Amino acid sequence: MMPDDHISPISSGQSNCDQSSGHIVLEISNEGDRIALEFDGKASTCLSTRWLRLACDCEICGDTHSGKRWLTPNDVPASVRLESFDVSNPEKVRVTWDDGHISHYDPDFLLRYAEGIPRFQPDHWGSDLSGKIGKFSFSSVVDDDEALFGSLWALRDHGIMMLTDVPTDAEDTMRIAGRYGPIRETSYGKVFDLISLPEARVAGETSRAQIPHTDEPFRYSPPGFIFFHAIKTGAHMGGTSLMVDGFYIAEQMRAQTPDLFEILTRHGVTFHREHAGEVFFSTEAHVISLDSKGQVTGIRFNDRCLAPQEVLQVAPEDQIDDLIAALAEYTRLVCLPENQFQHQIQPGEMLVFDNQRILHGRSAFDPTIAKRHLRSCNIDRDAVHSAFRTLARRFAPQEAEQVLYQGAIL
Ligand SMILES: [Fe+2]
Repeated sequence: MMPDDHISPISSGQSNCDQSSGHIVLEISNEGDRIALEFDGKASTCLSTRWLRLACDCEICGDTHSGKRWLTPNDVPASVRLESFDVSNPEKVRVTWDDGHISHYDPDFLLRYAEGIPRFQPDHWGSDLSGKIGKFSFSSVVDDDEALFGSLWALRDHGIMMLTDVPTDAEDTMRIAGRYGPIRETSYGKVFDLISLPEARVAGETSRAQIPHTDEPFRYSPPGFIFFHAIKTGAHMGGTSLMVDGFYIAEQMRAQTPDLFEILTRHGVTFHREHAGEVFFSTEAHVISLDSKGQVTGIRFNDRCLAPQEVLQVAPEDQIDDLIAALAEYTRLVCLPENQFQHQIQPGEMLVFDNQRILHGRSAFDPTIAKRHLRSCNIDRDAVHSAFRTLARRFAPQEAEQVLYQGAIL
């Protein structure tokens, strides 16, 4: 039994049960560098003792959220141990350390880390997106934080959503995009007009078809979220947008051709872009980025920017033909109609999508029938996810702390 009212000295292997508090029971593991935790109705679980000491955010240790932090990992020795604890307050577990320092922990915080921080699982889609894409009006997103949050939620789940009734002025494009984060200035400026031109500088300025791709994979950090604002389009003139969930394609490859999937996750692929005398970008990166758990976290893919790849002549490194086979398979899958959300974008509509997950393309169009004018700008992914988490604190606190897919890592 507990010796003092809710105050428990710790000794190795001793179980400390406080039936009166009913909220949390602590005990230390036999190894001494783990603490066992039991919560109401939960199986017992363990945390590192050193981790728990480092997780203290009292005024002396400081706070890692704000960065006003004073305790470093090197200040906590591996030998640190709990001296005693007090679970009488259901809101705060009080821990006294062997050097006399006192820490307080919210039981919910301990439970969250003991069970593991959940990783967000994206909702994959193919041609069925048309039935579930989120649509939000310009005025609601500009005026109402909850509507803005709804659109951010859709972006997190599907990597794409649509804004409607967006006025045609460039100022309005910037005004609404600015709700999601600072607009990123690139070598094309802050806002880029895609109009078919006789002297096209890039493929987007021609009227030719483009197979689905991510933009600018030749940058170390490619554009994050892309805003496509339709200013003028012509009915029945072609130019249908072809949107593809690159994560879904990756999962199809993982299931159907695991060897090719594996190559795209570990073989460096070089993408480049040069306009003589102006820019020369070149990046070697993976087409499919995985996180530490093996979950797909980002995509880079653009057939028009693939450099001649490095050919290593000595076996077993000579995998160039396997790499080309993997790139060909990814290309084949993104071109299948069942993997595409096909949409004829209308003036006033704005497609917003995650350029490190969603591939975009279009069918060819006839520029002699009607002029096609799309306006585009970019916002960094972390700014958009920051906006999501910040608003989740207000509107859906349970969604705020999941690990989100963090994009195309090199
Ligand atoms: Fe593009």
